[in-house]
Amino acid sequence: MAPSDFAKASIPDVVEQLTTDEAILLTAGVGFWHTHGVPRLGVPAIKVSDGPNGIRGNHFFMGTPAKCLPSATALGATFDPTLIEEVGLKLLAEEAKLKAASILLAPTCNIQRSPLGGRSFESFSEDPYLSGMIAAAYVRGVQSGGIGTAIKHFVGNDKENDRMGSDSVVSERALREVYLMPFMLAQKYAQPWSFMTAYNRVNGTHVSENAHILQEILRKEWGFEGTIMSDWFGVYSIDHALNNGLDLEMPGTNKWRTLNLVNRSIESRKVMARTVKERAKKVLELTQKCAQGAPEVLNGDGLEYTRESDADKALMRHIASQSIVLLKNDNNLLPLKPKEQGLKKIAIVGGNAKAIVLSGGGSASLKPSYFISPYEGIVEALGSDVEITYSEGARAYMQMPTLEYDIFTNEGKRGWLGEWYTHENDESMTPVDPPVKTQYIDETRLFISTSYPEGITKRWTLKLRGQLKPRDHDCDFEFGLISAGRAKLYIDDKLVIDNWTRQRRGEAFFQAGSEEERGIFPVKAGIAHSIYVEFCNVRGPADTDPDEAVMDANPGVRLGGAEVQDPDQLMEAAVKLASEADVVVAVVGLNADWETEGYDRTTLALPGRTDELVSRVAKANPKTVVVTQAGSSITLPWADEVPAIVHSWYLGNATGEAIGDVLSGKVNPSGKLSLSFPKSLEDVPSHGHFHTEHGRVHYAEDLFVGYKHYHHRKISPLFHFGHGLSYTAFELSDLKLSTPVVSQRDVEIVASATVKNTGSVPGTEVIQLYVTLPSTSPLTHPPLMLKAFTKVRDLAPGHSISATLKLDKYAVSYWEERIASWVVESGSYVARVGTSSAPENLVLSGQFVIENGFEWNGL
Ligand code: BGC
Repeated sequence: MAPSDFAKASIPDVVEQLTTDEAILLTAGVGFWHTHGVPRLGVPAIKVSDGPNGIRGNHFFMGTPAKCLPSATALGATFDPTLIEEVGLKLLAEEAKLKAASILLAPTCNIQRSPLGGRSFESFSEDPYLSGMIAAAYVRGVQSGGIGTAIKHFVGNDKENDRMGSDSVVSERALREVYLMPFMLAQKYAQPWSFMTAYNRVNGTHVSENAHILQEILRKEWGFEGTIMSDWFGVYSIDHALNNGLDLEMPGTNKWRTLNLVNRSIESRKVMARTVKERAKKVLELTQKCAQGAPEVLNGDGLEYTRESDADKALMRHIASQSIVLLKNDNNLLPLKPKEQGLKKIAIVGGNAKAIVLSGGGSASLKPSYFISPYEGIVEALGSDVEITYSEGARAYMQMPTLEYDIFTNEGKRGWLGEWYTHENDESMTPVDPPVKTQYIDETRLFISTSYPEGITKRWTLKLRGQLKPRDHDCDFEFGLISAGRAKLYIDDKLVIDNWTRQRRGEAFFQAGSEEERGIFPVKAGIAHSIYVEFCNVRGPADTDPDEAVMDANPGVRLGGAEVQDPDQLMEAAVKLASEADVVVAVVGLNADWETEGYDRTTLALPGRTDELVSRVAKANPKTVVVTQAGSSITLPWADEVPAIVHSWYLGNATGEAIGDVLSGKVNPSGKLSLSFPKSLEDVPSHGHFHTEHGRVHYAEDLFVGYKHYHHRKISPLFHFGHGLSYTAFELSDLKLSTPVVSQRDVEIVASATVKNTGSVPGTEVIQLYVTLPSTSPLTHPPLMLKAFTKVRDLAPGHSISATLKLDKYAVSYWEERIASWVVESGSYVARVGTSSAPENLVLSGQFVIENGFEWNGL
């Protein structure tokens, strides 16, 4: 019998035959990434995998190289559900199959209350409608390839610090209209196979045991029939979570739902055995969908593969370039055409130009199958026609850069050798010779949540040995060592960093890691200095926490390093190159240490002396183009000092290619900001109430999230939501609005407008429609709400086309708390149409009248 034969099984019959113990086992995972199989009844185990910008596979440590797509904010910036659906089907579903996974733990569609949210990069937009429509397209694409999705984190996980304990205190109306809306739209238009609950509480109760959210809203109102799974270690009870609707606890390590505890809960009548069977039934139904959707995954060898065709690479490059946003382009400095513009020399500066920055950090991170840096991409796009110089200028990293490309084995292979040692016994700190396993490792950030050698003791040691790539000059080299566990670094047998005897607790490795400890070693030209790191998975004593807790889930060690440079000299060198060049391209921004799961950012500013670098370079050369990399918004205090700014998010493997395509004009940019760029942190809607206070986060800005706040308060942001320029120009005219047709508790209104390309090159434009609810309404509403958008593609110069936008009841409804219902009021509505949410860009405006308002529930 093949595992996929379960596709044809009768679920009621299987449920009938399940023993209570089997039912209990089905309601929790096995290991990190699998569900429980019941071979006796032909029930296969299924594998799930992160998500959302690719499929990492089973292992953080020595993971299988994979395709890394642009961050979700970048996908949101395409405003292009058709393209997202194609990517879901052709890249994500296929990659899941290569990684032997049946469920993709994605998409993430929380809301960026603040760009400080550590995981802002992982969700599509600050706007619930855009977020929901892109999420629906993502889900449709992946699921049409036979792979399930687990849409997450349902709901209110809008920040990272204290995410397991924090309580999102939010009005029911804002919850419905803002935070639940992306999930609701995805459910309406795409029916995800599963929902993943958020870590946090909402209005007092953890979502994984929240009857209002799981039962009343998701199950009853939205009619969701799929499976509800927890976030990893996001279950905090046995009976509450089972009774209130959580079907599957993940992962299966350290779980609550053990045979012992659940049977005791049944005996004590805290949980009914039939409830456990109902939950198990949902897991069986999910398993069956997987068997039907992609039987080849269940019947396959279970191994993970890396593969990409030229077509895959082209699609990765295309989606990346489509998400890039041209923020500013004075005097048409871009695109760069060296021959036509007589450019002889381009200086590339900035800490991100050569760095490996491709996604945010945390569970979204993966090992890319290839990576093209911005520097490489620009050289490929322009280098044949012009001389390109480079200088880092200012350092942008938080932690020392990892050394995968700087450490070699004795045989000259990139990476180092690891020797695993058991200890004398589970309590002992003494490793025993000989090593139980010797392993080649090509990473210097090792997050060892899986893949331990067989027979390893609870406490163990890993010894890592390699050589530093010889330099061509004498220099001081600074190393940084972080460990979730304890670690020491020796260079040429000399102790350089002791992160063992005494530790400072830090935030790395999902908050299990230490602070980075640094040490400097004088490196000699031409010498391959030996590097030795000893790591043990037991934390060292710290002043704040003298306990020696074994890291049984998240041990990790990270070695980074870079040549010591005088910051002033670094800066001067870049400024000098800038002054000698015809054009400067400054590539600056954040990386996966600044934007990551586990902690929030503390500032919107760029790191270190980056802002000073941009200002100084721009002064030295007025033709300075700035390319910014960040998954969310950042402040750009020098925005007025430079003629051109290109925001490029995190773009995955094809980063440099896509940047090169846009700078050279091979691709005419059409991306639009999926979130507002404020002038300062103080302008952000949730400023002052973003963090938890005594465990509670007050969503005091209520409905006024993102651009709705800026419009409401008449605060101008630096760049508006929906903003994005093109190398051509468009003119909008002739807005027509149909008379609303109300029937069967829905409404249909069709808007159309003429779009003309008035520039000189073909271009693509996003037409956006914002609705204002009737001024006669007894309630306060955000002044403008995005309710429809469409993309006009490759319009030739001089040509016009009619763009059509459709509105339904979602465009005109608000949540009425007193009657727990959506309401469409009778009255006069305003529709404003333009190419961004900036008032000056909303050039068309019209009114439509709904004569007979109505109330509705459900979807
Ligand atoms: C994250 C989820 C992820 C899960 C599995 C959690 O830490 O919040 O988004 O899917 O881990 O890696």
